[in-house]
Amino acid sequence: MAKLIDGRAIAKKVYVDLRREIGELKARGVTPGLAVVLVGDNPASRAYVRSKDKMCRELGLHSVKLELPASTTQKELLERVKELNRNSSVHGILIQSPPPEHIDEAAIVRALDPRKDVDGFHPENVAKLVLDDASGFVPCTPLGVQRLLTESKIEINGAHVVVLGRSMIVGKPLALLLMQKNRNGNATVTVVHSRSRDLAEITRSADIIVAAIGRAEFVKADHVREGAVVIDVGINRVEDAASERGYRLVGDVAFDEVSKKASAITPVPGGVGPMTIAMLMANTLKAARQ
Ligand code: GUN
Repeated sequence: MAKLIDGRAIAKKVYVDLRREIGELKARGVTPGLAVVLVGDNPASRAYVRSKDKMCRELGLHSVKLELPASTTQKELLERVKELNRNSSVHGILIQSPPPEHIDEAAIVRALDPRKDVDGFHPENVAKLVLDDASGFVPCTPLGVQRLLTESKIEINGAHVVVLGRSMIVGKPLALLLMQKNRNGNATVTVVHSRSRDLAEITRSADIIVAAIGRAEFVKADHVREGAVVIDVGINRVEDAASERGYRLVGDVAFDEVSKKASAITPVPGGVGPMTIAMLMANTLKAARQ
């Protein structure tokens, strides 16, 4: 049976450090501020935005929550972003993804002040990740995955990490992060995705599997070598009449069968999710410091 990697417990440890740093910043007269922008009413996005705002409040950060209707135009959204760029009490800006269809997300991201881009999606921050320039912002979920591994004393250095999924938010930046030439990098990284041939053969050669493919319980026991570490980034709502809400959350990994083969595994919920928010708070402090 795999050891459970407890994301909530590790996030709690991270918050101990963050609270100390917030105290130091406040003593210098700086209250770190985060603005979270939600366009439309996607229920999952609403839930994420709510928990980000709540965490800011718990930590005593300045929090701005902008909830805009789905009918918001590109021009209106750009205007709001520019206002937040100019607002000196806001150090970090996050625009919840995905926005409604009619919004050109890439153009909105380019309009962000890269120094406030705590999501690490702006081309300047993407370039810094490629260039190993630590002054940039790294996306929160990849940072959270790396921190889960290091805090759990799982060796990344020299390991074969197979990342499932090539998204801008998780797969691609995570691959770049774990192959960086530093203490918490130095992995041999393979990225597989929906079009990969012989996918299971590749994942079976992994020391560490990171599932970020966005398909419920996609990774089965057959994909996993005995003793591998499995990190599940997926959060999928599947219908469940027996549940009060009418759905339950499952990851990208078939937990019951895979946990019998893995040496360590993250649960969903309670694995990567809490770490993503913790890293968002960490990036906001970094923005305030800079
Ligand atoms: N949607 C899912 N994950 C994320 C994230 O990390 N940042 C933003 N902005 N949107 C998301």
